Amino acid sequence: MAASSETVLITGASSGIGRELAHCFAHAGSNCILLARSEGELHALADTLKTEYGISASVLPADLSTSGVAVDIKRQLDERDLSVDVLVNNAGFGARGRFANLDPERQVDMVQVNVTALTDLTRRLLPPMLERNRGGVLNVASTAAFQPGPYMSVYYATKAYVLSFSEALSDEVVDTNVTVSCLAPGPTRTAFVEEADMVDAPLFQWGAPMTPNAVAQAGYQGFRAARTLTIPGWPNTIGAFMVRFVPRSIARGMAGWLNR
Ligand SMILES: NC(=O)c1ccc[n+]([C@@H]2O[C@H](COP(=O)([O-])OP(=O)(O)OC[C@H]3O[C@@H](n4cnc5c(N)ncnc54)[C@H](OP(=O)(O)O)[C@@H]3O)[C@@H](O)[C@H]2O)c1
Repeated sequence: MAASSETVLITGASSGIGRELAHCFAHAGSNCILLARSEGELHALADTLKTEYGISASVLPADLSTSGVAVDIKRQLDERDLSVDVLVNNAGFGARGRFANLDPERQVDMVQVNVTALTDLTRRLLPPMLERNRGGVLNVASTAAFQPGPYMSVYYATKAYVLSFSEALSDEVVDTNVTVSCLAPGPTRTAFVEEADMVDAPLFQWGAPMTPNAVAQAGYQGFRAARTLTIPGWPNTIGAFMVRFVPRSIARGMAGWLNR
């Protein structure tokens, strides 16, 4: 499909990997619908994308931690007569610490944003893609998806869900022109690090974080190549592969050490 006739909805477009993914799609000529809570950031990005790439960009402010938010998003899209060819489920956040000590509401919000909203949006926007037999879904997981993560237990579990869900869906649509692709970044230099209280964690001290631009480029290319899974950066690729060969107890022990 010519990207110029395509509309892409990107969640978490106000910063980091989502903002860079918006640049990737807009650069290729896709029209963008930008979703996050920070309305000012979204408007500034929409103006930049319109000016730099000559595409149309609109803003859809929403809090994905709100129950039933996908219904409201679909209603707003229908009211504005916007059909979504590509859904990028990128919004997400983490929190570091012992599960028993972390804020309970924030943990539940994390499941709502990282898992429930992603699933509900996909369920509401995938069927029209299948009817048109074009477009697809790009879900942002993490290398956290490949093993349990002590001291970030809920975050790792949400990303394991995203990976499993995406891989299964990818097979369900394999005989169509619709793509379901999963991007699993390792440590990346974005606001996520402060937000998750990870600044002094060994993972980010020694993990050689990638830039959000490099991660987004890899995810975009993986989606366009209809790859089920893209892991940006060779150290992350090797790490995700090697974890298959060590006992689960060792894998989670290492993750826990990196999160301490
Ligand atoms: N950075 C890393 O090391 C890393 C590694 C692996 C995977 N990831 C994943 O990459 C994705 C993007 O994260 P990032 O690193 O780019 O971090 P980021 O710069 O903090 O971006 C997170 C995005 O999610 C949005 N968001 C958060 N809560 C939201 C809510 N309740 N409703 C709507 N939007 C919400 C934020 O927008 P508002 O605050 O404006 O709402 C922001 O646009 C996440 O899924 C993250 O788990 C990150």
